[in-house]
Amino acid sequence: MQLTFFSPPPPHDDPILNQIHHGLCEEILPRIPSQSVNLIVTSPPYADQRKNTYGGIAPDDYVAWFMPIGDELKRVLHPSGSFILNIKERVVDGERHTYVLELILEMRKRGWLWTEEYCWHKKNSYPGKWSNRFRDSWERLLHFTKSRKFDMYQEEVMVPVGDWAETRLRTLSETDKRRDESKVGSGFGKNISNWVGREKVYPNNVLHMATECYNRGHSASFPVALPQWFIKLFTKPGDVVLDPFIGSGTTAAAAKRLARNYIGIEKSEEYVTISRERLEQTPYGIDANAPSEQSDLSELRGSADSAVPQRQTGITEPKMPAFESLTVRAGG
Ligand SMILES: C[S@@+](CC[C@H](N)C(=O)[O-])C[C@H]1O[C@@H](n2cnc3c(N)ncnc32)[C@H](O)[C@@H]1O
Repeated sequence: MQLTFFSPPPPHDDPILNQIHHGLCEEILPRIPSQSVNLIVTSPPYADQRKNTYGGIAPDDYVAWFMPIGDELKRVLHPSGSFILNIKERVVDGERHTYVLELILEMRKRGWLWTEEYCWHKKNSYPGKWSNRFRDSWERLLHFTKSRKFDMYQEEVMVPVGDWAETRLRTLSETDKRRDESKVGSGFGKNISNWVGREKVYPNNVLHMATECYNRGHSASFPVALPQWFIKLFTKPGDVVLDPFIGSGTTAAAAKRLARNYIGIEKSEEYVTISRERLEQTPYGIDANAPSEQSDLSELRGSADSAVPQRQTGITEPKMPAFESLTVRAGG
């Protein structure tokens, strides 16, 4: 594996940067200077979830709980920065609760732009049976910004063009050679001929990533590939990445690997210890194309990953006899 080293990391004695801070983010965020953060990536505690592990917020109280934190995040974010919020509404009383939708509307009232929504498809979903819905296999990644012009390095996340190009681009129609506007007025027009001879293309807004199998002592960790993708897309080396609900330190580990500065906040002392130990083991500034911790693990585990249960969103799940013997520790 080829490693590329960036400039040396900043000293660890900075009171804010490259630290996992122990405490409530409500109390620690005010110490962070205004407009000093380039990207926020986080997965907050879910509504009423995991009461036994790290507390939960009642769905009806969720927006009121989150908004003061959201205001602080807006203050610390640079005008050209981005905020990625990983969240999914749970099922309450047989229907999806609306707190995520209400949260988006409230964020907009407070000056945020709801710029985009990415979908995390948890590709290691295993089968289940419910009377009124199917297995929950995706989560929202809400993208908020402070302005319409924000930093975005799209070339950093390009993907191989894929086999379709072989056949699709071999013979082009007249329509393929000019920009063909969307018939449904979506604004997503396309000129197919632009892609002839290219090896890489831009990805779409669905991220197919497996949940963490080995979850580092945290019941809700997301895969390191998830923050890594957004860090590459929205920051450059030396920028500052914040996660106010850092859990097992995943966002900070991704930032460190990509030679970005990190700020992590976590209320649980146990998770702070786990995060700090993890960060000590994490190499600084390895090549962006090098496999991540997660992909190293997925490669090794192969098909066992396909039996990992998902982060639950209020759906009671029947036991799956076929998988009972497998370790079930992922999700969140
Ligand atoms: C969904 S988990 C984050 C998991 C993380 N993405 C990872 O990969 O490990 C949410 C975390 O937020 C922490 N937390 C909950 N309320 C908090 C608060 N007010 N301030 C700081 N941390 C909090 C919980 O202890 C939990 O570890």
